[in-house]
Amino acid sequence: MTTPLPAPAVCLTELAIAFALKGGGRYTAVEGIDLAVAPGEFVAIVGPTGCGKSTLLNATAGLVRPVAGRVEIFGRELSGLNIRAGYLFQQDALMPWKTALENVAVALEPKGVAAAKARAQAEQWLRRVGLAAFTERYPHMLSGGQKKRVALAQMLIRDPEILLMDEPFGPLDAQTRQLMGNLLLELWAADRKAVMFVTHDLEEAIALADRVVVMSAGPAARIIGDFRVELPRPRDIAEVRLEPAFHHIHKEIWSQLRVEVQKAYAQGEAG
Ligand SMILES: Nc1ncnc2c1ncn2[C@@H]1O[C@H](COP(=O)(O)OP(=O)(O)OP(=O)(O)O)[C@@H](O)[C@H]1O
Ligand SMILES: [Mg+2]
Repeated sequence: MTTPLPAPAVCLTELAIAFALKGGGRYTAVEGIDLAVAPGEFVAIVGPTGCGKSTLLNATAGLVRPVAGRVEIFGRELSGLNIRAGYLFQQDALMPWKTALENVAVALEPKGVAAAKARAQAEQWLRRVGLAAFTERYPHMLSGGQKKRVALAQMLIRDPEILLMDEPFGPLDAQTRQLMGNLLLELWAADRKAVMFVTHDLEEAIALADRVVVMSAGPAARIIGDFRVELPRPRDIAEVRLEPAFHHIHKEIWSQLRVEVQKAYAQGEAG
């Protein structure tokens, strides 16, 4: 007897998403998207600006409805919000009137966790992301990298089975990005979740992921490339970039991505 394969954590099938435009008409952002992410798999999504990367994450989170196709989460069609996923947004989403500790603890509120227990867990999580000494700081008293650590703790404390991350380290300087990347890999290795990680940085995508998926320029953007990254784990974000296999796969993916980036740029120029 063969054991059935586990359902993918995320399965997008023939997915299309369109937006109604002011003054009539609609804009089809993505179309014909087929993407499956296995439980525990780390998938990075790259593509030119405006191609629909955030839109794909929003559809997986249940924040936008597809006009065609399906979103399945662990084998079940998604209707409403995806409560099995945690989302790290492209923009900062910490509450400025709450301390780091309160920002993390509040994530447990919907689960009905008692306040004292939530604070204790939040403290543990802030320690895990290296912020034990910063629990009582408000977001404006934290650096960009520290805020991202708080946001990471805020997402992970809920123990979601799927992590949706939208250019989470985008605004950070190069060294801080590397530190955050290594921290993320360490946390992920301890307790493997399925990850959809959007980035415009191809090197970051390869260094982190098991697979890199390439999207075409929009409108009606599609997935045009799907590359397996065979680099061994555990990885160090800075060191893995020095390996010949890294350069090889980077060259392969970039030759495809570059064409799409140029197309998107030309469209922008044309207005
Ligand atoms: N609510 C909306 N109404 C109309 N168009 C929208 C809406 N949301 C997104 N779009 C359009 O859909 C396309 C995809 O947007 P999306 O934010 O997913 O791109 P992205 O790949 O995440 O870009 P970036 O890399 O710049 O973050 C863009 O052309 C955008 O202008
Ligand atoms: Mg985006």
